[in-house]
Amino acid sequence: MEVRSKDTLAPPLKHKHQEKLMVKKSQLLLHTSTWTINSTLTGKPRLANFSTGRTRKNLEEESGKVDDHIQAAVEKPGSQKYLLPHPIWSEEELDAVEVTHNPPKERVDKAAYFACKALRANFDFFSGFSWGKRTERKWIYRIIFLETVAGVPGMVAAMSRHLRSLRRMQRDHGWIHTLLEEAENERMHLMTALEIKQPSLFFRLMVLGAKQIITSTSIFVNMFFISYLVSPRFCHRFVGYLEEEAVITYTKLLKDLRADALPKWKDRIAPEISIKYWKLRPDADYIDLFRAIRADEAHHREVNHTLSDIKPDDRNPFGPGE
Ligand SMILES: [Fe+2]
Ligand SMILES: [Fe+2]
Repeated sequence: MEVRSKDTLAPPLKHKHQEKLMVKKSQLLLHTSTWTINSTLTGKPRLANFSTGRTRKNLEEESGKVDDHIQAAVEKPGSQKYLLPHPIWSEEELDAVEVTHNPPKERVDKAAYFACKALRANFDFFSGFSWGKRTERKWIYRIIFLETVAGVPGMVAAMSRHLRSLRRMQRDHGWIHTLLEEAENERMHLMTALEIKQPSLFFRLMVLGAKQIITSTSIFVNMFFISYLVSPRFCHRFVGYLEEEAVITYTKLLKDLRADALPKWKDRIAPEISIKYWKLRPDADYIDLFRAIRADEAHHREVNHTLSDIKPDDRNPFGPGE
């Protein structure tokens, strides 16, 4: 469900049926579910933006009412029940996340490492991240782009193993669920980022024009699929190194947040979708949110390096939600 301020509603109404629809829309403002049909006039679904205008100060002023409101949404029966299991991080686990590096040992590991480093260097340069001031806008567009890519490997690897199991009429040894969980987890990172900022049409056109979403994601899907057929070990190592980079990126973001270098995000309450998904406190801010996302990335790092270390027919050591 979307919650928007009244002054952002549509232009003056022309027809009676539109008026009725707008009444329904104003009723929707009372609800807190994350997704909604945004525009009753256009009928097009749009993402919500529940939390971006709300700060901790707002919550204090509203004397706990909003806490109750969010808590009720978190506890709403059936909410997010359809999602795959995933870790819920404790404070100790969040504190324990560190930037680590798994040194490449064999040739295949070195190839994966250099491919990842080359990708990062190019992306940093062309996205303007290696020069100029890091702003909220730069950060969110970077996160949105990276998470659209990050959701690919788990899904492609899971599909590849699923088809392999069918083709060879052999068991999978429990890998598929972990890979699907990773894919969904990455998609939830993207959904959360979209709650923080809807990319403008200009941004979407820009990335389309720059062949960085549709084209490059499609190319990446196909390249990753073919690479996975040739060498699952290379692919999991490559993702392991990408995740190392993701931990570095989110650590940098947390540093910027703690240094008050991103004033527009100071004391902002995390999007409701993320409060539900990671079971955060109702007044969790962006630091809490990105700590949880960083812990996910550190987990993917461990999972993928482990899957690269073992043979494709070995038992997956990670159980559901682990
Ligand atoms: Fe991610
Ligand atoms: Fe990740």
